[in-house]
Amino acid sequence: MPAGDIADDQRGRVSKHSDDEYHRYWALSEKERQEFVRASYAQRDPKDPYATSRDYNARELEIQSIIENVKPGTIVDLGCGNGFTLLRVAEKVEGDYTGVDFSEHLIGGAQALANGANLPRKPRFVCADAIEHLRNLPNDSVDCVISERFIQNLPSIDWQRSVVADIFRVLKPGGRALVCEGSETGFEGLNDLREKVGLTRIPATSAENISAIRLKDSEFEDHCRQLGFKLVRKSGYSLFFIIARVLHPLLVAPNAPRFDAEINNLARTIQSHAPFEPGYGGNELWVYEKPARPATRQPSKIGDPVNEEMHAPRLEPRRS
Ligand SMILES: C[S@@+](CC[C@H](N)C(=O)[O-])C[C@H]1O[C@@H](n2cnc3c(N)ncnc32)[C@H](O)[C@@H]1O
Repeated sequence: MPAGDIADDQRGRVSKHSDDEYHRYWALSEKERQEFVRASYAQRDPKDPYATSRDYNARELEIQSIIENVKPGTIVDLGCGNGFTLLRVAEKVEGDYTGVDFSEHLIGGAQALANGANLPRKPRFVCADAIEHLRNLPNDSVDCVISERFIQNLPSIDWQRSVVADIFRVLKPGGRALVCEGSETGFEGLNDLREKVGLTRIPATSAENISAIRLKDSEFEDHCRQLGFKLVRKSGYSLFFIIARVLHPLLVAPNAPRFDAEINNLARTIQSHAPFEPGYGGNELWVYEKPARPATRQPSKIGDPVNEEMHAPRLEPRRS
């Protein structure tokens, strides 16, 4: 493949930038970085369902886990891209869906995909800054917020933390945040494993993947705890990533692994029937809940079972 060309398993799903642009990105202001990201998505094929994800198998696993955890009702997808995830969720779960993205190009793709979808109630797609959109939503007004590789594309950790705080604010008590984002912890776990078996580490950012600031699990989880969020579960796709990013490259070396290789399709099928364990791989899903308001019945005395129940921590069982 000539230098600068795009492999055919990635065409329309990747934005190409020069090394110079890549190095300049981190010297830009936060606002400029956002503008860079917005312009960068204009290089994608907006009608390709996987326009925003080179690895369509990993994307399908994300969608599966989002569908399994979504809370019906008013659902907002921040940085929805071309809306493919939201349309897939809307096929399965009743809801009043809104997808927000600041890329006109991708929102155009979302409208086109929505027109072709056979849904009784179509999602509403809004071309806007998702941070502004969120800021304008009233307190306690949304049942479920989805963020799929949106927070990781924000320009700084401060911006990420402030968006998470605003998500907490707009959720109704009992509402859910599905945070399906890059995990630095899982990414480094996978890289450590690759190194142990003689593979090189995958670079954290590159000219093809400029903007990712993956979440550090413990820091992100501390922040969510301080906001008052309750962690329902954390999912990952370790089995898939071990096959696709460790076994597969070992088998095809010295050739480069392809996203569309049959072994990756099989890895996705196997993972889709196995527990979604985090630890190895850059993508994770955190399922957070804003605690419901305490029941109105006042417990009469200490030791009252109602009181104990209200305050007992409850971690839902993992899917199996
Ligand atoms: C990696 S893509 C993910 C898109 C989609 N959630 C998905 O999973 O396919 C990140 C998206 O976030 C959008 N984005 C980044 N910052 C944004 C902002 N401030 N407001 C709205 N959209 C934003 C980009 O335009 C892009 O579509």
